[in-house]
Amino acid sequence: MDNKRISSSHIDSLEKISVNIQPDVKSGSLVIAKTIADLIRKKQAEGKPCVLGLATGSSPKTLYAELVRMHKEEGLSFSNVMSFNLDEYYPISKEAPQSYNRFMQTHLFGHVDIKPENIHIPNGEIKKEDIKSAGSDYEKQIEDAGGIDLQILGIGNNGHIGFNEPGSGFYTKTRLVNLTNSTRLANAYEFANISEVPRMAITMGISTIMKSRQIILMAWGPAKAVAVKKSVEDDDTETVPASFLQNHD
Ligand code: GLP
Repeated sequence: MDNKRISSSHIDSLEKISVNIQPDVKSGSLVIAKTIADLIRKKQAEGKPCVLGLATGSSPKTLYAELVRMHKEEGLSFSNVMSFNLDEYYPISKEAPQSYNRFMQTHLFGHVDIKPENIHIPNGEIKKEDIKSAGSDYEKQIEDAGGIDLQILGIGNNGHIGFNEPGSGFYTKTRLVNLTNSTRLANAYEFANISEVPRMAITMGISTIMKSRQIILMAWGPAKAVAVKKSVEDDDTETVPASFLQNHD
């Protein structure tokens, strides 16, 4: 008997989401960048927009660096790209160094030829009473764009996607949420200290994410291993929001 084959088929049978293991962040990021570039070019050839759902955090930095390189060295154009970011802190000024608006300018938008009017990021500057209608508008804008072709995700140590913290339901849409202390602590390195980390955020919901035609979740390094195992191998549950991705086509 071939023990290696038995153990690998055993592992496969546990996976409820297809998994692509890469040797390091760079190799994994290159695979995803190529997938994005191929999709952008395919849509260009069809004369269609390419609608991307984009993430922030440390996980996509190498991916965005590779997309910028492809733009500069290989002529990859973003002129047909429409983007919708997953989330933004609330409240936060667009110009704040920690805002996701600033993050996207620094790591991607500031270096490629995406049209400014095609960029969408939840607005962390609006009045609280306007967030509900802004959330519905965001959903409508995604719909009017034809839906998200490819959604890029990271994952929080507690299994959150976007800022959908544990407890977020399957049918949630773009809305205001409270951040858990563990998420604020994990993101505190961007701020002077934890008390500066906003206590709330505006995030696409689970259902917003699930409507995307294709979804790629990046998880790098041992800190994410437990959340990945729970999301990929265990039953889907509100307590690990990324596990809902098991229900995606
Ligand atoms: C943040 C973001 C998520 C991101 C996650 C992981 O809170 N809202 O979209 O996926 O945390 O971040 P990182 O990639 O830095 O580990």
